[in-house]
Amino acid sequence: MKLAVIYDSKTDNTKKCADWIIEGMSKVAGVEAKGFNISAVDEAFVKECAGVVMGCPTYAALMTADMRTWLLTSAGKIGLAGKLGGAFATEQYTHGGATLVIQSILTNQMVFGMLCYSGGGSKGKPVIHLGPVGVNGNAEEFNGLENYKDNFLAYGERFAAKAAELFA
Ligand SMILES: Cc1cc2nc3c(=O)[nH]c(=O)nc-3n(C[C@H](O)[C@H](O)[C@H](O)COP(=O)(O)O)c2cc1C
Repeated sequence: MKLAVIYDSKTDNTKKCADWIIEGMSKVAGVEAKGFNISAVDEAFVKECAGVVMGCPTYAALMTADMRTWLLTSAGKIGLAGKLGGAFATEQYTHGGATLVIQSILTNQMVFGMLCYSGGGSKGKPVIHLGPVGVNGNAEEFNGLENYKDNFLAYGERFAAKAAELFA
């Protein structure tokens, strides 16, 4: 079963979180998970995927303009309808708006006809309400992103397990 993580990332924080999700997904037997920047999506691979997770940095408490453009101009062409969907985001500040980014991506996924899944509270702790958030904490002059690694690993594994349950 193929899974994809598609993300925008300018300074690699969101890419790092995508890599952790892929690492978590890969713990589920039979999963082939790959990550793609929105500028280099392997459309043939994504079309064969059972699920697609999308991630984005938070810009002014919203998704980036590039992510929104990709969703509006490219994402509709890669056969997303009926696939399992999920979303994640990174931000610099706690309460910097990442949850709004996730919610907005999930809304776009619903418009494409995807089946959105976060695991929510159904898997116990860590409870991942809408999707995982990574706070890089650059404002405090330390890189705090690693503190969120376990949430991304858990999310990836849960997402892959649900996709396998539904589609494998
Ligand atoms: C133009 C711009 C706007 C940003 N706006 C926010 C914001 O509203 N809230 C926040 O917490 N971080 C904000 N950030 C910080 C980024 O969301 C954060 O550093 C993110 O992890 C960058 O992801 P990347 O390394 O994948 O590009 C902003 C960064 C830039 C460059």
